Amino acid sequence: MEVVICPDSGAASVLVADAIERLARRTPDAVLGLATGSSPLGVYDELARRVQAGTLTLSRARAFLLDEYVGLPEGHQQSYRSVIHRELVSRVDLDPANVHGPDGNATDVARECAAYEEAIAGAGGVDLQLLGVGTDGHLAFNEPGSSLASRTRIKTLTTQTRQDNARFFGGDPDAVPRHCLTQGIGTILEARHLVLIASGPAKAEAVRQLAEGPVSASWPATALQLHPHATVLVDPDAASRLDRRDQYVETYEAKPEWQGL
Ligand code: GLP
Repeated sequence: MEVVICPDSGAASVLVADAIERLARRTPDAVLGLATGSSPLGVYDELARRVQAGTLTLSRARAFLLDEYVGLPEGHQQSYRSVIHRELVSRVDLDPANVHGPDGNATDVARECAAYEEAIAGAGGVDLQLLGVGTDGHLAFNEPGSSLASRTRIKTLTTQTRQDNARFFGGDPDAVPRHCLTQGIGTILEARHLVLIASGPAKAEAVRQLAEGPVSASWPATALQLHPHATVLVDPDAASRLDRRDQYVETYEAKPEWQGL
């Protein structure tokens, strides 16, 4: 795992946008794994800026969302499908027909989850998966205790996550759906490059655990330690509890530029 301590989340977003740009140049029909939450928003702003400036195209790229709430009415402002359309798809040249998410209103949930797995595999797998991390270490919506081998399925959100996400629902945790569909940790680990962004002091413990703690379902994001190409970009607040901060800084400074992220 590579830990990159950035001066601020803006700098992290630029590095991630650079990695996506490099991928899109190399593989125009690359498969992007998209995340919601506030952590990737700076990346989406940077991608939108580049596409609008004409220096980047995502016109042939394909994309899969990590997760979705269950039971929100179609077109609800906070469904992850709507969020990703608003924050990214509507601002870049991605073809909306190439952007997929699990259907949180599917009547046959098991079938929907299996079909989603098949769609990802059918696209050749995810090239670069964007990730945030919950304050409790959840990855996508894989809450603590989730199997590290899990696949796309329905999950129950914890009280902590519903409180954390209440800000998107008028501050009311009870307005946050109880259930979600989420790619499993095993699904996420199959992406070829995992890129996790975390900022702010509330993420410091989750970042410490995921980078330096023992691999454990109690902190789902520790599964990144099992991946051959995982990059974790943090601001100084999110990095504040890391023991090996100096090592990460030295290593990144000495990194050959051709390697990228
Ligand atoms: C949600 C999402 C996760 C995200 C997490 C952190 O629960 N399902 O994918 O990583 O929140 O969100 P934020 O980036 O807003 O802190």
